Amino acid sequence: MITLLEAKNITKRFGGLTALSDVSLTIRKGEVYGLIGPNGAGKTTFFNVLTGAYTAEEGEIVFGGAELPAGKPHLVVAAGIARTFQNIRLFRDLTALENVMAGHHIRSRANPFSILLQTRQAKEEERLITERAFELLKYVGIERFADTVSKNLSYGDQRRLEIARALATEPQLLALDEPAAGMNATETARLRELVQTIRHDGVTVLLIEHDVKLVMGLCDRLAVLDFGKKIAEDVPAEVQRNDAVIAAYLGATPSPGQEPSPSHTPCLQLQDLRSPTAPSRP
Ligand SMILES: Nc1ncnc2c1ncn2[C@@H]1O[C@H](COP(=O)(O)OP(=O)(O)OP(=O)(O)O)[C@@H](O)[C@H]1O
Ligand SMILES: [Mg+2]
Repeated sequence: MITLLEAKNITKRFGGLTALSDVSLTIRKGEVYGLIGPNGAGKTTFFNVLTGAYTAEEGEIVFGGAELPAGKPHLVVAAGIARTFQNIRLFRDLTALENVMAGHHIRSRANPFSILLQTRQAKEEERLITERAFELLKYVGIERFADTVSKNLSYGDQRRLEIARALATEPQLLALDEPAAGMNATETARLRELVQTIRHDGVTVLLIEHDVKLVMGLCDRLAVLDFGKKIAEDVPAEVQRNDAVIAAYLGATPSPGQEPSPSHTPCLQLQDLRSPTAPSRP
């Protein structure tokens, strides 16, 4: 098995809060690797460090044999890592096709002057980008919405569009932050098929997801974060019977010296809720 990505001893702090504490993990080429953990565990922070949105205080990430530049998102994309966001980030007033074309432009070779002068080379490149963007919409199953403004797409289709836009940068590693959030069962089943196709087509996938059934069914291996620490890294069957993981999900006592995060305690709890029978109308 070839190692594609190795995160070594990553620590990320926000003031007094340690969001990631000495996290190391290894992703192999061609696998679907899950990153799970309770709310506030540090999953998205790991994505932000990986993709250069944040700079870690300690540690490094090696990707494809070379150290990833810290805090430089455009260089991370150029190195072959693309991501989607937990809170969808599309160009809301652009069409689905234009959103994917924006992803392609990162790889475009035409220089700004040739685009301004509309040279034959620039026009040809634009035509190819449009064609390829349409192919990607087809690949994720939303080509019928090519001309729809993205804010008018359903939630599930917006998430698919984000995946298409990420794929447009031709990544080796696709990092998905809760792609099934807000999807119904049918949409989730289709997403599962899409992730399998993406992997089959040679792109390694890093997946943050709360849908346990989806994660356990899709991932070859998983890492579990809790309070910023990696508490397990194994195949799904082993992770599921890991005592520390079970405790983290059922709300165990935090490690010494750590306050439970607000997200570990319920902010609203309903008990024995009954709806009174509505009085019949006269
Ligand atoms: N920019 C920031 N500034 C300050 N604190 C932050 C910032 N980003 C994240 N945090 C904190 O870091 C911790 C980890 O947050 P993170 O978003 O990585 O969790 P998560 O595992 O993705 O959770 P969720 O499942 O709810 O998305 C949380 O306590 C969060 O409040
Ligand atoms: Mg998150």
